[in-house]
Amino acid sequence: MIILGIETSCDETALALIETRNSNSGIECRIISSLIHSQAELHSKYGGVFPTLAKREHGKNLIPLLENLLNGSGDRLKTINRQPSVEIPETLKNEIQKNNPDLWSSISNASFLKDVPLIDRIAVTEGPGLEPALWVGINFAQILSSIWSIPVIPVNHMEGHIVGSLIDADVSNNEWQTLKTVSYPAVALLISGGHTELVKIEIEQTGELKYEIIGQTRDDAVGEAFDKTARLLGLPYPGGPHISKLSADAKEKGIFSPIKLPRPMIHSHNLEFSFSGLKTAVLYAVRDQIALDPKLSEDFKMGLAREFEDAVIETLSAKLKMAIDETYARTLIIGGGVSANLRLREAFEQIANQYNIAIYLPSQHISGDNALMIALAGALDIKKHSRPLIADGTKRLDYRN
Ligand code: KG4
Ligand code: ZN
Repeated sequence: MIILGIETSCDETALALIETRNSNSGIECRIISSLIHSQAELHSKYGGVFPTLAKREHGKNLIPLLENLLNGSGDRLKTINRQPSVEIPETLKNEIQKNNPDLWSSISNASFLKDVPLIDRIAVTEGPGLEPALWVGINFAQILSSIWSIPVIPVNHMEGHIVGSLIDADVSNNEWQTLKTVSYPAVALLISGGHTELVKIEIEQTGELKYEIIGQTRDDAVGEAFDKTARLLGLPYPGGPHISKLSADAKEKGIFSPIKLPRPMIHSHNLEFSFSGLKTAVLYAVRDQIALDPKLSEDFKMGLAREFEDAVIETLSAKLKMAIDETYARTLIIGGGVSANLRLREAFEQIANQYNIAIYLPSQHISGDNALMIALAGALDIKKHSRPLIADGTKRLDYRN
């Protein structure tokens, strides 16, 4: 089965094509192509993602990205064995013309859409994320579905981050690989700009996966805390990579922060997180330092970045261990943009070693948002039912539909 994945939940416009098949050793997958167009630089001057701009950019980027994806996917997909439908349904056309004029005008000019590629299924992110941005991907999927007569499967973005860790994205294009085997119950720690969640995963007799959110943040997500801390230190968005670079420099130079930051809720006997207090502690530390010397020294920034990263690592590690103890997890899955952080990856690997259980982390270049994970989640979806697609900004993993 060949699946086209579409991801537009935030500031990455991403498309991917994968092929899956069943074998004796499990589900096999090959990556045909995966493209990501990041808008991070555009949003950087706003200090975060600006939803209307994200929506407009997705509308402009999807068609050129699809053309590149199909052109780069070899001749196999180009085999045409179906007739495209001549007309897009009037209601869909009106909706897109009204809500996504950029998308509509690029679709109208895309003559390559007349060739029907050999794709069996389209998977699109339905939520969580920024609703205006999600709608662009959904409308795009609906258009392709109607002109190519291909079914669309809605995908939960967070499920994408989970299954994205089961594939080795570094395996060269077109090579078959077996997906990593998960022993259940499993625990997933999802850490991104919008989420900090601990999820218990079990498998039902039907083969369907059952997700239960067993812990989450009460306020800011961990990625948000990285981004806000970076902003306070005068670093650009997204801040995570800049903080971890400063922290690595501090480590190399033996620099520590004179200020100790809190480890929020580390001793609370539950699986909840809170990162807004940590961000406020950084704010006070920066404010006090500016009162002494208006120009923050590099040593101060390095030390504080290191202390901040330490606080995050200790907090996430403590809760992850508690979650393993509570669920008797047999596999750990880490997902979300923050899992690109090398020190966090090391800490989580150590925990898995300590418990002698398997750990799956996303290949570094797909730890952020991408469509490969969406295509894979769509391929693994065994429900296969079709229903109207609705962008849901706060879509939960444990909500069945
Ligand atoms: O999953 P993702 O790409 O988008 C969301 O769904 O939110 O995650 C983005 C988040 C941002 O907050 C970014 O600062 C953070 O991931 N991030 C990092 C690192 N790389 C990206 N945080 C810490 N260390 C990193 N190396
Ligand atoms: Zn994400």
